[in-house]
Amino acid sequence: MTTPADLDRLAREILARNDRGGYTVPNEKVYPFQWNWDSAFVALGFAVYDEDRAWRELETLFLGQWDDGMVPSIVFHQPAENYYPGPPAWGTRHDPPTTGISQPPVAATAARVIYAGSADRPAAAARARALFPKLMASHRWWHEVRDPDGTGLVTVTHPWETGRDNSPEWDAPLAAVTPTVSVAALRKDKTHVNASERPTDDFYDRVMTLVEEAKALHWDGKAVARRLSLRVCDIGIQSILVRADHDLLWLAGELGLAAEAVELEGWIDRSTLAFDRLLAPDGTWRSMDLRTGKLAPTISSGSFLPLYARVGGQAAADRLAGVLDRWAPAVSYAVPSSDPLAPTYDPVRYWRGPVWLVVNRMICDGFAAAGRDDVAARIAAQSRALVLEHGLAEYFDPRTGEGLGGRDFSWSAAMWLAWLARPDAGFALT
Ligand code: GLC
Repeated sequence: MTTPADLDRLAREILARNDRGGYTVPNEKVYPFQWNWDSAFVALGFAVYDEDRAWRELETLFLGQWDDGMVPSIVFHQPAENYYPGPPAWGTRHDPPTTGISQPPVAATAARVIYAGSADRPAAAARARALFPKLMASHRWWHEVRDPDGTGLVTVTHPWETGRDNSPEWDAPLAAVTPTVSVAALRKDKTHVNASERPTDDFYDRVMTLVEEAKALHWDGKAVARRLSLRVCDIGIQSILVRADHDLLWLAGELGLAAEAVELEGWIDRSTLAFDRLLAPDGTWRSMDLRTGKLAPTISSGSFLPLYARVGGQAAADRLAGVLDRWAPAVSYAVPSSDPLAPTYDPVRYWRGPVWLVVNRMICDGFAAAGRDDVAARIAAQSRALVLEHGLAEYFDPRTGEGLGGRDFSWSAAMWLAWLARPDAGFALT
């Protein structure tokens, strides 16, 4: 078994190896560019030993920000052969090139954590002040462009935006998309990773059809939000956004930005209220297909994230702890990315079952904040065991703990450094 000291060394080595000078690739082979929420988590890892580099990770991500405020899911800083879909497939206009969709907005939370932990507050305040308007613009994009009718529920138009790419939550919404392209021959991912651990070709055809639809709308933000043939409210993004609103509000307070604070409070109030519309009869939160108004039939790891957004109190946390108890006989390591008792569960296929450390990090924070330190402690202990026994893989089989997908993964390394290496640091992500 690896020791904590070995993992410390390995984690720093991974971040150094995947560092491209100001940004970090998630994994050299499978993902050779800068990814949005990966970078926010990676910044937390750097913050443990190199605060300047942590800020730089976020600053570099925002070089990809669009004029309308969107922070893209991928910034293609340098060309690379071994990835599909690259810039030509997206057909967006930006320098550096980017995708046309976003990803879970973790950046403001990362900025708060780096700022709060800084040994040099004046320097940190200067970095935070420069980043603040960009963060604010990206939150405004979610709350306004992606919620054009001001409902409090933000719209996601592509499964990749959710970061939980092939979760069973998107099965029904994707089934309603008629594929107009066939891209199997263009895929590169299956040459790096076992195909049984990756999404199917049919999935790729449908998601690339959505890209074609958005291209035909010239990537106009509101048109995309209103017209794409997949429109869902992802319980993950909804929660991560509201949590990040709270963190940005905290930063506004530190920096004395009163008008921004008022705007943020408005978004927080509106979106917090809207979570009630995502409650299923069993009292758990679900993603919603905004085209049909239907809630997702299965619970996913995203269903635990409202606690991370400070939505729902101890009663909600108790209900969700009950869900984990029901799942416990089927899994040795929490939290599987989808309900292990449902027919859609697949313990090795990406977001249809495997455990992902970054999601566990947020779930752990939420349970602790809602008064369930016992559940937070269990999730943290199982996550720590996972990496000590199986390394810093991209994701893990919840039955055996086996590492799956890419090896030596940047955000897994960061989660070791910023969270699992310090079992006594508490469960809060602040
Ligand atoms: C996969 C994951 C996504 C992540 C990306 C880079 O696409 O589903 O969440 O950001 O890989 O690691």
